[in-house]
Amino acid sequence: DRRVTVHDLQAATDRGERWAMLTSYDTLTAGIFERAGVKALLVGDTSGELVLGYRDTVAVTMDQLIPMVQAVVRGTRRALVVADLPFGSYQGGPEQALASAVRHLKEGGAQAVKLEGGRPALAQVRALVDAGVPVMGHLGLTPQSVHALGGTHRVQGRGDAGDSLLDDALALEQAGAFAVVLEAVPAELGRRVSDALRIPTVGIGAGPSCDAQIMVWQDLAGLTTGRAPRFVKRYAHLAQSLHAAVEQYVTEVTDAVYPDETHSYT
Ligand code: KIV
Ligand code: NA
Repeated sequence: DRRVTVHDLQAATDRGERWAMLTSYDTLTAGIFERAGVKALLVGDTSGELVLGYRDTVAVTMDQLIPMVQAVVRGTRRALVVADLPFGSYQGGPEQALASAVRHLKEGGAQAVKLEGGRPALAQVRALVDAGVPVMGHLGLTPQSVHALGGTHRVQGRGDAGDSLLDDALALEQAGAFAVVLEAVPAELGRRVSDALRIPTVGIGAGPSCDAQIMVWQDLAGLTTGRAPRFVKRYAHLAQSLHAAVEQYVTEVTDAVYPDETHSYT
């Protein structure tokens, strides 16, 4: 029993196999995802929104992410654990990026990190790769730039911006990234980038041609409700089933139905 490595993911991609990633922020769900066949788990800065309740991913810090990285690592034995570098933890330059990545590996126990951006982040990617840290890139919709992008529900990489994104992806591969996330771009661009790169593309709203896919687990499970981006597919409706379970519990307590004899000590 050993963990999946970035080499395993490259080998799977070289064989033409598709593989699935999911976000993960806590021990129990991490174990479930791994046993269900997810090869790599991302402790994403989306936890800032989905676990900690911030409006966007900008606020979450290294100190907040690291306990979640630890929890996911403790809850798994085989999955590759990728830790997100949050906003402000690497934009300061290669030295800052390395210090943050080292914390994710040494304190968190992650095996890789992810950061957002193309050519502007290359010096950071090179520094991490040189230090032996596997780096996943992230292009297209990059939520840490929410204020510059004017929102996070806009498709990226249409028209000429597509050529620029392809150049960014090639530059990330050249700099040594082991994979690149493509978020919210036209399917045709997802195909172009996937054809051009040797390293795996990990799509989230990037069409069916990517080598792998990632989704936010609360979206997949329907723990989030209401309007969602086009790429979200709800495979379950956890919000409803959890609501019903808790409602029944409250009723049974109120009506003195729970606890009964079977749930009491003699
Ligand atoms: O933080 C996150 O969950 C992510 C994925 C959506 C790719 O970056
Ligand atoms: Na993220």
